[in-house]
Amino acid sequence: MCGIVGYVGSREAVPLLMAGLTNLEYRGYDSAGIAAFDGTGLIVQKCVGRLSALGERLKNEPVEGRVGIGHTRWATHGEPSEINSHPHLDCTGRIAVVHNGIIENYQELRAALEAKGHQFISQTDTEVIPHLIEAALSDGAKSFEEALQTALKLARGAYALGILFKDQPDRFYAARHGSPLVVGVGKGEQFIASDVPAIVSQTRDVIYLNDGEIATLTPDGVRVTNLDGQEVKHEIVTVTLRAESVERAGFETFMLKEIHEQPRVLRNLLDKHVSPDSSVLMPGFGLSPQYFKKLNRVMIVSCGTAYHAGMYGKLLLENLTRIAVETDLGSEFRYRDPKIDPGTLIVAVSQSGETADTLASVRMAKSWGCKTLSICNVPGSTLVRVSDAVFFTDAGPEIGVASTKAYTAQLMAFGLLAIHIGLSRGEISEKDAQTLLRDLQAIPDAIHYVLRRKDSIRAIADKHHDGPSSLYLGRRFNYPTALEGALKNKEISYQHAEGYAAGEMKHGPIALINEYLPVVCICTKTRDEVYEKMISNVKEVEARHGKIIAIATDGDTAFDRLAEDIVFVPPTRDEFSPLVNVVALQLLAYYAAQARGTDIDKPRNLAKSVTVE
Ligand code: F6R
Repeated sequence: MCGIVGYVGSREAVPLLMAGLTNLEYRGYDSAGIAAFDGTGLIVQKCVGRLSALGERLKNEPVEGRVGIGHTRWATHGEPSEINSHPHLDCTGRIAVVHNGIIENYQELRAALEAKGHQFISQTDTEVIPHLIEAALSDGAKSFEEALQTALKLARGAYALGILFKDQPDRFYAARHGSPLVVGVGKGEQFIASDVPAIVSQTRDVIYLNDGEIATLTPDGVRVTNLDGQEVKHEIVTVTLRAESVERAGFETFMLKEIHEQPRVLRNLLDKHVSPDSSVLMPGFGLSPQYFKKLNRVMIVSCGTAYHAGMYGKLLLENLTRIAVETDLGSEFRYRDPKIDPGTLIVAVSQSGETADTLASVRMAKSWGCKTLSICNVPGSTLVRVSDAVFFTDAGPEIGVASTKAYTAQLMAFGLLAIHIGLSRGEISEKDAQTLLRDLQAIPDAIHYVLRRKDSIRAIADKHHDGPSSLYLGRRFNYPTALEGALKNKEISYQHAEGYAAGEMKHGPIALINEYLPVVCICTKTRDEVYEKMISNVKEVEARHGKIIAIATDGDTAFDRLAEDIVFVPPTRDEFSPLVNVVALQLLAYYAAQARGTDIDKPRNLAKSVTVE
């Protein structure tokens, strides 16, 4: 949801800003812009469309300067257009602002500013910020810092801001409230960015600003204050992320690279959390086995793909720990006045750790006295900092907008947690735990096996990508897999796809089935009657001439005559089969999108990190 960058130092700012924005483009790609000081003053260049369009413009009209800010936009208020692109200016053209977030009271602020004679040119919420600062300066603020504090005290909502002021060409300002922002500390130069990957090739020393803080950045250093001007001391954190991990490494897209990274990501998680004698290790976890012993209710809150991980987590936790578990979408949970007592553990699942609805849910639960555990991929993210305990998914930066490796890492996290909690509560024995862990350890190789069959999956996608719609069916542990497979397909191939619990099909969606509808049926073998029920459901599809694509266990001949196409996956324990099956669905969606010619890493209308409601 918009990415911002900033630079001050002795090098040319614009190439560094553009490099940073390239790594942030996954956050939005409706328009891009930069502002920098050159010898003559404050210069702004902005362009509707991708960052490459801005790059072309800068080739023809270069901007020089050693201080600058930049922005890549996911439109919220106002259509994607040059006028609505950031940076935005005040009436005098002396103050330039880039913004990620939403100023919720912008309409009333704008009306008050217009009544004072301020001229607005865009439909954005952001434009009130430079005008508020301008107003505070003309109302007699003693310094630019004071004007900025006054302006930000009036703004309600979420923001990460980069701000240039023409009268101070040796510095820029940054501020944060509710949207992510990291300050990169270099030698004789400083950076800001919406996340670490955007600056990691320049510096690994960072400061994570807190809400309600303002940073003043000069070549000599960074000074942080609160909105009352009091200085706040910050520890400089050295991040371990490598610059190579934000590169495509020879793959045609980030998504394909990330799909292929899954075996390694999961193996690393297993190495970190499983001891040689097969017990689960929870280094620095923050919630004790005694706590889990007494726990009797868990509420999992998340959005999108992470919500599907939460649905899987519920099934696994209930099974292995016998705790009552519910799930909800962040955007529903926070407004439904749920009946939650302080003894409930809130589990938030999020790749980015910045999803607005997930964060708001966690904050709400904390205010009720609940403990919070997050399953999160981004160290230093807001979610990590507000949670009582964190399970890091350690999947590395996920750049493709459609989540893949973060999802399977979330499922693995639930697997490890469920075994750990089940053991802590005595619901499973040491021996059960060892068997479960052994079966979990087989998953990375099983995923490799699916990846090796990608050409046959591509052939199936090539055959079925054409229609307007498709249906995904699964049961029990693979019901969330069906939802996730459908989501992957619709978000990158733009083909309508619906995920359904296979047993529910008769209650409505069966009406959709005809000889043109591809129906992806997840029917890997299980130890219980679910497999047979799934076969019956597949037969119901066959009877209505649906085009069946089965995800089946290697060696299973049950679908030979039923299915038009079969993707075979290796046998795995039922509980963990979603980690493997979903990879087949990720590839199916990937190749369908490729056949349909979409921009896979940057699907239309989406942004990676949903930092607004
Ligand atoms: C889909 C996808 C989104 C995210 C959702 C939550 O591929 O990536 O549905 O899962 O926006 O994001 P996080 O996990 O960052 O909270």
